[in-house]
Amino acid sequence: MAPAMAEAAASSRSRSHLDLVVLMLVLLVGGGEALSLDYYTKSCPQEAEAAVAAAVKQAMAKDRTVPAGLLRLHFHDCFVRGCDGSVLLDSSGNISAEKDGPPNASLHAFYVIDNAKAAVEALCPGVVSCADILALAARDAVALSGGPSWVVPVGRRDGRVSLASETTTALPGPTASFDQLKQAFHGRGLSTKDLVVLSGGHTLGFAHCSSFQNRIQQQGVDPALHPSFAATLRRSCPPNNTARAAGSALDPTSSSFDNTYYRMLLTGRGLLSSDEALLTHPKTRAQISLYAASQPAFFRDFVDSMLRMSGLNNVAGEVRANCRRVN
Ligand code: HEM
Repeated sequence: MAPAMAEAAASSRSRSHLDLVVLMLVLLVGGGEALSLDYYTKSCPQEAEAAVAAAVKQAMAKDRTVPAGLLRLHFHDCFVRGCDGSVLLDSSGNISAEKDGPPNASLHAFYVIDNAKAAVEALCPGVVSCADILALAARDAVALSGGPSWVVPVGRRDGRVSLASETTTALPGPTASFDQLKQAFHGRGLSTKDLVVLSGGHTLGFAHCSSFQNRIQQQGVDPALHPSFAATLRRSCPPNNTARAAGSALDPTSSSFDNTYYRMLLTGRGLLSSDEALLTHPKTRAQISLYAASQPAFFRDFVDSMLRMSGLNNVAGEVRANCRRVN
């Protein structure tokens, strides 16, 4: 391990030796080179990270939905072909890219990555990958919304393949069962604990009616929903709803990164079936109760799980000049 990496990792937060070992292993798996904490130390010192943070901050000042958009973009990037920026590529010719796959229809905030990339390119041309910029922007989105911050290992390469057809199988849908959710996470080397922690990303943002319509049908409301919450959702999303932008916040404090999501889940106010499914097992229910009672516990575990997700499957790719196109 590079000395700077060990130092930064140790100083970034008090982490047990075992956590560190796990982290290093995760960062070393996959097809590409290992990620590191000092990858750009010589090629683009400090400024790159600051430029990304500035782009996120600037966009957030105008649009409060940006942090949720960025965090979800990073998740959707990492779950399809690893964190290789494949979600950022535009469709071209007869190739329909990931961003045009059905689960990605409501992804947004791509322009923030474009702005960050332009700022970084002006500082150090051809050095920092789009995949790294997205990982850094997701971290900044969380931190600038009141959540924890962490040191993001970097050195990801940008992939050259992005296929809409891969999104439906790779990304779990909102009606996924507990078993299906576990399968999606375990298949990528992530644990059931990671599943519960990372679902806490739903402390930010919004879901369209179509994502939870299954729970508020005319013929019957999901009995797990609190009756007054169900009534509110039905008012927001009536059966004859034609407003494409209609929906609900994923938790009542949807611009703040906090533990409200877990407190809501315990009272029948979790929005998606996939959120509700996390209560299925006594062990995951206990984890939800822990985070509902302790925001610091949620923040600590969120950082660890994000590091694991962000380290998925680095590919032997390129550093794109434009995040929307392969070189
Ligand atoms: C566990 C499986 C997951 C499922 C089934 C799932 C599903 C969904 C769905 C259906 C939406 C609403 C989309 C819409 O209606 O527009 C959503 C939104 C969101 N998800 Fe997830 N998600 C999962 C995990 C995650 C993870 C791991 C993260 C990040 C760590 C995350 C972050 C978000 C965010 C921030 C939003 C709000 C996006 C916005 O407002 O633009 N989700 N998710």
